Amino acid sequence: MEFISKCTADTISKAAQALKSGHLVAFPTETVYGLGADATNEKAVSRIYSVKGRPSDHPLIVHISSINKLEDWATEIPDYAIKLAREFWPGPMTLILPRTNLAKDYITGGQNNVGLRVPAQPIALSLLMKFEEIGGQGVAAPSANKFGAISPTKAQDVEQELGSLFDEKDLILDGGQSIVGIESTIIDCTNPMPRILRPGFITSEMISRQVDLDYSLSQKIRASGLLAKHYSPKTRVILDSSANPGDAYIALREISTPEGSIRIGSPINLEQFASQLYSFLRIVDENGFSQVVISPPEGGHLADAIRDRLEKMASS
Ligand code: TXA
Ligand code: MG
Repeated sequence: MEFISKCTADTISKAAQALKSGHLVAFPTETVYGLGADATNEKAVSRIYSVKGRPSDHPLIVHISSINKLEDWATEIPDYAIKLAREFWPGPMTLILPRTNLAKDYITGGQNNVGLRVPAQPIALSLLMKFEEIGGQGVAAPSANKFGAISPTKAQDVEQELGSLFDEKDLILDGGQSIVGIESTIIDCTNPMPRILRPGFITSEMISRQVDLDYSLSQKIRASGLLAKHYSPKTRVILDSSANPGDAYIALREISTPEGSIRIGSPINLEQFASQLYSFLRIVDENGFSQVVISPPEGGHLADAIRDRLEKMASS
């Protein structure tokens, strides 16, 4: 595996070529780092599953360079989905749509729907454009972590967690810290009205300003991010504002530290909470705490997405 710390036009070209030749390329996005493979190469995609240790019937998100590629992968696209794509792409939003023949069972987990996203990160976008220039059609990329673990927000996290499982010609592109820090908002667009399957930085408030949202829970769609227990650090997570001496503690800055607990993170607002949460948890894991207490932020908007991840970590 090669770790590329300086992403230039040349190294991005090399990465696009590596994808085209069937190798894995971990790359930065604005949400979290992705573990990329050519979405039309079954063998390459199967390596994503073996490196992640992920069950093979879990679908993958296909990353494309722009809305213009949407119809290569999706069909029967409702008008509201076009509206959302125009408004929020490139950005931290994944649309689930009926698939075309390009999206094989090894991408969709055998479902008739495919997940699509145009990321808003310059290195990711250049990589996708370069890949398409040399004949590629899309890059399948789950978060670049072991199945069930927390997503990486730095290239070094990917190297630490998956580096030893990579082959010689696989690459990691370092694009610094992911700005959003939690995974994309996933929207089911296979019904007359859109439904949020996984909350994220693009909030229901932002979406419902554009289109009418269906707030009922979807049962038909299977998504691993929807499993009750997911996105978990190794350390036990407790959601509370009070903590015991010796506990690691994470809360918004305005909340004071319970006596004897060790403050790991004090984000000043919700954006910073989301963007730093997984890094804080990696610090907790590295320092052998028996538990970490997190005070869940209140309110709607981004707080909903943060609480979604926190509740999944804390459920056992
Ligand atoms: O922000 C993100 O979405 C990141 C970056 C790398 O783009 N990717 C990501 O991928 O979080 P992953 O695989 O870790 O989580 C994607 C979720 C999974 O829960 C998967 O089951 C669901 O999206 N998903 C993907 N395709 C789907 C489909 N066709 N139908 C239903 N769920 C799907
Ligand atoms: Mg993931």
